[in-house]
Amino acid sequence: MDATTTDAVYEAIMRRRDVRCEFTGEPVPDEVLRRLLEAAHAAPSVGLTQPWDFIVVNDPAIRERFRDHVAEERETFATSLPPDMAGTFARIKIEGILESSLGIVVTYDSTRGAPHVLGRHAIADAGLYSTCLAIENLWLATTAEGYGMGWVSFYREPFLRELLSIPEHIRPVAWLCVGPVSGLQDVPDLERHRWRTRRPVDDVTHWNRW
Ligand SMILES: Cc1cc2nc3c(=O)[nH]c(=O)nc-3n(C[C@H](O)[C@H](O)[C@H](O)COP(=O)(O)O)c2cc1C
Repeated sequence: MDATTTDAVYEAIMRRRDVRCEFTGEPVPDEVLRRLLEAAHAAPSVGLTQPWDFIVVNDPAIRERFRDHVAEERETFATSLPPDMAGTFARIKIEGILESSLGIVVTYDSTRGAPHVLGRHAIADAGLYSTCLAIENLWLATTAEGYGMGWVSFYREPFLRELLSIPEHIRPVAWLCVGPVSGLQDVPDLERHRWRTRRPVDDVTHWNRW
């Protein structure tokens, strides 16, 4: 790779943010959506199973039903918190389901390529890891496009499965809010709201032993 490409890759990695507040709601042109999905679909996968599917959700009624469900789950989590944390959490927005331009739900199919999945015989989760790599590819591609993406995990899998007619053996892994943004924050929302701070890489790097 030439130096410009290398810089661009690192820039996308470092600029990427989880977005909830900055969506503009402007439409995503078909060719951009295509590029994003191609980028996600280019991810590595255990045994080349490509175990993901992408459900693009632009139906406002479906998105509203999901938003209502997420609001309930937010409440469930909020009531589990001690008062000081509940106060902090109350100020944090955890989704941009209606404000974003599109929802993209990424699912995991453990039966794809099974039973002889090369590389999964000892680690069943390797299929799920693969699906998350597709999600990260999508995240970086949205950043490179000047868009934003936000991962929503405040939901129960059976609810989302039923909402989107997902077959029983397929797991919904993420609802991703995607679209143009007014800008990306420099600091993660959770850090700005003093929920948690990021750790320096040296704190998580080990040599030879844990
Ligand atoms: C598996 C996963 C689930 C997440 N679920 C949510 C969520 O439901 N709501 C939310 O606001 N952010 C969610 N996030 C985003 C994280 O809060 C965010 O990545 C983290 O605070 C670091 O911020 P950054 O992504 O901007 O660097 C999720 C991220 C991951 C990887």
